Amino acid sequence: MKVLVTGGAGYIGSHTCVELLNAGHEVVVVDNLCNSSPGVVERIEFLSGRQLSFHPADVRDLSALDQLLNLHAIDAIIHFAGVKAVAESVVNPAKYYSNNVRGSLTLFEAAARHGIRRLVFSSSATVYGNNQDSPLREHLPRQPDNAYGRGKCMVEEYLTDLSRADPSWHAVILRYFNPVGAHPSGLMGEAPLGAPNNLMPIVCQVADGQRPELAIFGDDYPTADGTAIRDYIHVLDLARGHVDALQAALGNEPGLIFNLGTGQGTSVRELVATFEQVNGVSVPCRIAGRRVGDAAVSYAEVTLAHERLSWRASLSLEDMCRDAWRWQQQNPQGYSRKPLPDLQGHGIADIGIPAHST
Ligand code: NAD
Ligand code: UD1
Repeated sequence: MKVLVTGGAGYIGSHTCVELLNAGHEVVVVDNLCNSSPGVVERIEFLSGRQLSFHPADVRDLSALDQLLNLHAIDAIIHFAGVKAVAESVVNPAKYYSNNVRGSLTLFEAAARHGIRRLVFSSSATVYGNNQDSPLREHLPRQPDNAYGRGKCMVEEYLTDLSRADPSWHAVILRYFNPVGAHPSGLMGEAPLGAPNNLMPIVCQVADGQRPELAIFGDDYPTADGTAIRDYIHVLDLARGHVDALQAALGNEPGLIFNLGTGQGTSVRELVATFEQVNGVSVPCRIAGRRVGDAAVSYAEVTLAHERLSWRASLSLEDMCRDAWRWQQQNPQGYSRKPLPDLQGHGIADIGIPAHST
């Protein structure tokens, strides 16, 4: 298939591009680089040994999308492009409705004009809100607590309505839990352009001395060690879930929604202890107050994705911590000018990439 990946230069998109290329698909990326670097493209090509077509454009630009879709006969779209900082969405909702809702609607309009109606959409566990009991099942009501989450819900509902109105639309909605980790080569990982907000990148920065300590947001939750519980999932498992979801989008069922998580809850303290142990480093912590808007416990029910997509997360919390740290150590400033290894006629398998990358 020829797959258009919006936001393909970003964290999850870049790992998905490698998996798509490895699975034999052709890849076209559109990304406005508002939270990513052009340097990721050569890493994707290096890791897959194949080329992709990169277009720096905004998904809100209908004429740019039209041009691109005239150029490429696209079979299906994976739509990652969007902004994702929850706290920012509360103070600047316009940015979120514009990028995430208007951007999606513009993309779907362009797709329909070009006869493309197969799509995988990046949604989030945030659509469940903070007040429902885990494990969170796909049929639970949507109860988002912030503008970011409400935008994701709107797009989910729009896609469901589109599929009802026109059965030739086949959209698969994926709700990610907490993606962490990096490509095991150490060549690709999470490189947000501003300061990170999520736990794992902050833990990495503390471990390598860029920050003095990790502020643990609350140790008085009703959990075994008092810290909040999340469902961390390796970004490579998540990327592979998209390749499987693409196959589901080829089928004839409308409005499929799947959680992508491990189904396992891990507390902040457990994650920090695992990170320290597998990497042999120290992560100084202090207890801070709870972060406004945080859930105590959030983890996925994952049977549906297993049954319907034959997908299941296979990488462990140890893998996530090890790979995140390798990426951090090799790229403390993200995608800077670091040259790629010289393969000198060898394949990437010969340069010591751990087995779980293949
Ligand atoms: P990311 O910021 O690394 O990647 C998003 C990419 O989209 C970036 O490269 C950015 O430059 C691009 N982009 C943003 N707005 C755009 C626009 N208007 N036009 C074109 N490109 C645009 O984020 P990510 O972690 O890879 O997330 C990808 C998707 O997954 C997002 O939709 C996000 O909401 C969703 N998601 C992420 C997480 C997470 O924890 N990372 C969790 C749940 C859902
Ligand atoms: C956050 C978003 C969520 C989004 C998800 C993935 C909020 C309220 N929620 O979720 O909508 O889908 O990111 O992008 O922002 N923690 C610390 N110290 C830190 C950072 C985090 O203790 O410096 C804790 C948090 O309180 C939380 C856990 O680590 O318990 C994970 O935090 P984070 O990585 O930000 O993810 P979520 O809170 O699940």
